[in-house]
Amino acid sequence: MGLLDSKVALVTGAGRGIGKEISLTFAKEGADVVCLDLDPESASSTAREVEELGRRSMSLKCDVSNLSEVEGAFKSALDKFGRIDILVNNAGITRDNLLLKMSQEEWDLVLKVNLKGAFNCCKAIIKHMMKQRSGKIINIASIIGLIGNVGQTNYAASKGGLIAFTKALAKELATRNINVNAIAPGFIRTAMTEALPEEIREQMLKNIPLGRFGEPSDVANVALFLASPLSDYITGQVLVVDGGMVM
Ligand code: NAI
Repeated sequence: MGLLDSKVALVTGAGRGIGKEISLTFAKEGADVVCLDLDPESASSTAREVEELGRRSMSLKCDVSNLSEVEGAFKSALDKFGRIDILVNNAGITRDNLLLKMSQEEWDLVLKVNLKGAFNCCKAIIKHMMKQRSGKIINIASIIGLIGNVGQTNYAASKGGLIAFTKALAKELATRNINVNAIAPGFIRTAMTEALPEEIREQMLKNIPLGRFGEPSDVANVALFLASPLSDYITGQVLVVDGGMVM
């Protein structure tokens, strides 16, 4: 018996990093997983790994910032599986720069993917979840949306916005038995953070009370909790997964 037996999950940005780990963790707990990513090869590689775990899967190439693409992708997922019980809005990007130097394009792109992407995916699924009278929506935010960071005004605004969006949507959907929560990871070892210079990584490590960087599995385990019946009485919350950086 798994925590997610007979559930269908859709994970955005499932091709690598945190999204891939969430997809595989859900599959190990019995869920069928729809793997959506901008990069079709990585999405289908995660989908293959889900199938190797004995679950059904499908991969979808989709840009979450484009509503009509998202609607088409969600329709094909619903056509194949008949239901979606869990949505994880994980796809996200950075385009770091000091505000003084930040271009409109850098600002717009980060807001479009990280914040409008979640709006688009929720738009595409909530009618279905409302009819089902159940659902779990998990938004992957960031501690930067809570505390800010130099060079990340666009990213901080997108993740802070995502946290506010989570709370508002949680209130809208509570009577329909749909839980909407966010996870705010700290520094997690993925391709996104590997791009940071060594001295910044060392500086960050000094500020982590638990004394290590997070692994994608640290976030995936919390996503599993929020996707499962164990968290049925939790909605509109932000669970911080950061080794104690923000407390
Ligand atoms: P990553 O860069 O390793 O993976 C992101 C995935 O999203 C990639 O597979 C990429 O192709 C996909 N993606 C990017 N733009 C997309 C789009 N427009 N449409 C569909 N898919 C798209 O990133 P990582 O580290 O796994 O991060 C995942 C999420 O966790 C992001 O939202 C990120 O902001 C958040 N996060 C990550 C932290 C970290 O330390 N790695 C810390 C806090 C939050």
